[in-house]
Amino acid sequence: MTRAGLHSTVRVLASLGLVVLVGGATDGPAPFDAAHWRQVFARPDHTPMPAGNPATPGKVALGATLFEDKRLSGAGDVACATCHQAELSFSDGVPTHDGLDGLALDRRTPPLWNMAWGLSWFWDGRATSLEAQASGPIENKREMGGNLDRAVQTLSADPKMTRAFAGAFPEDPAVTRANLVKALAAFERTLVSPETRFDRWVKGDDKALEPDELSGFKVFVGKGACVNCHQGWRFTDEAFHDIGLPGDDPGRGKVLGVKAAEHAFKTPSLRERVWSAPYMHDGSLASFEDVVDHYADRVIKRPTLSADMPQSVALSAAERAQLVAFLNTLSSEDPPRATSLPPRTMSLGVPPEAVATSIVGQKDRRFTPGAILLKVGEVLRIVNDDTRTHNVRIDGPGMSYNSDAQNPGDTVTIGFDQPGHYDAICGIHPEMRLSVEVAPGQ
Ligand code: HEC
Ligand code: HEC
Repeated sequence: MTRAGLHSTVRVLASLGLVVLVGGATDGPAPFDAAHWRQVFARPDHTPMPAGNPATPGKVALGATLFEDKRLSGAGDVACATCHQAELSFSDGVPTHDGLDGLALDRRTPPLWNMAWGLSWFWDGRATSLEAQASGPIENKREMGGNLDRAVQTLSADPKMTRAFAGAFPEDPAVTRANLVKALAAFERTLVSPETRFDRWVKGDDKALEPDELSGFKVFVGKGACVNCHQGWRFTDEAFHDIGLPGDDPGRGKVLGVKAAEHAFKTPSLRERVWSAPYMHDGSLASFEDVVDHYADRVIKRPTLSADMPQSVALSAAERAQLVAFLNTLSSEDPPRATSLPPRTMSLGVPPEAVATSIVGQKDRRFTPGAILLKVGEVLRIVNDDTRTHNVRIDGPGMSYNSDAQNPGDTVTIGFDQPGHYDAICGIHPEMRLSVEVAPGQ
């Protein structure tokens, strides 16, 4: 990757508005600071768009049509919207949908609000862009049982479709695999959940929340420690955590090939969740009450349990009811319709200044410094001075490095024998990014 590439990665993260909170699960409850939390949960004023697939009205309209088009499936009987139903927050109301073979799928259909702000997709984060995600269900034998090439052939034979594709992609006016997934992704990025009562409170209206709901928010950011993971306006840190649910799905661990990340799934957003019960990757919890009882009473303690889970959450019946009342304020009063925010390509923010150093820390899920300069032959030491297990992955000229599980206290050392640009991320906390510029040695 070029130096321009490094800057754009950093800018993408800045424009996603990810909020990194200081303090781990072991901190005691701090006094409630409304101004601070109003900042943490403030909504953005634009939708991030990748430069390679800008949204245009024609493309979004085509994507919306394709989302409902059963011709994308093998037998012409399943569309995206069969499972992702708009009035159920683009989910389907069942623990797990039946596959084409009549047996239940392994995981629940996730709601699709606010996908534009994601860093990875699927419960285990195995897709790294919405464009890449879209071919998954089409070609999955148990979901749509289709084939992108066959779908392209079928749609090419429909003059209405060839016209719609030509209008949406004037610079490449054809029905192709690439254009098909671009249109679907552009449509999905327009699914922005509308403001709710909680947002009115965030904007400064103290009366927008009932006293019980505000008490619930205080539990959420206080003794409940929910905010350790459900943070930022979408209520997700985009990271992967084992929250102690029963079941043997290896989740993120299988994607990374790292045992320490087994049972870990992507923190879901909590927006518009009233409409998308049941909950969790396996749809095993029927209601918000069940979810709160899980965190308070039923967490399975095992070595992979997230370091961001509090040691224990002792909640009275009243506090549980308050938490549920608060969770309800993150949903619309009626089945919501998407709002539109102006799209903006992801190119804002100031990249961190690169520092000449060979030692990088990881406290509070952040590589510090975030950009470094090295020389060929120098050894980089990445020190886990955090409370969490990380998984350092570095890609660059001739290198694809994976640290496996890097526990608190562990230092990984990496040598660079080629000049160039390298990107490092944590596979468990993908918001962590480090850029390494290696100059030729003398
Ligand atoms: C048979 C039901 C079904 C159909 C049809 C279906 N999906 Fe899904 N979708 C799912 C399930 C189940 C998952 C979660 C799978 C996983 O995480 O392993 C999912 C995950 C997703 C995600 C990831 C969401 C997130 O939070 O990471 C997106 C985006 C998505 N689907 C879009 C689509 C699109 C676009 C189509 C049509 C091309 C489609 N889906 C068709 C069931 C379905
Ligand atoms: C350690 C990080 C972490 C903490 C702390 C945490 N959550 Fe979660 N939450 C997650 C993850 C990860 C999932 C998905 C887990 C899965 O499906 O295996 C989840 C799922 C949920 C869901 C279900 C959403 C859906 O659409 O399925 C709700 C609701 C929820 N959490 C609320 C809370 C509340 C309330 C608290 C505080 C009492 C809390 N969470 C604390 C990480 C966390």
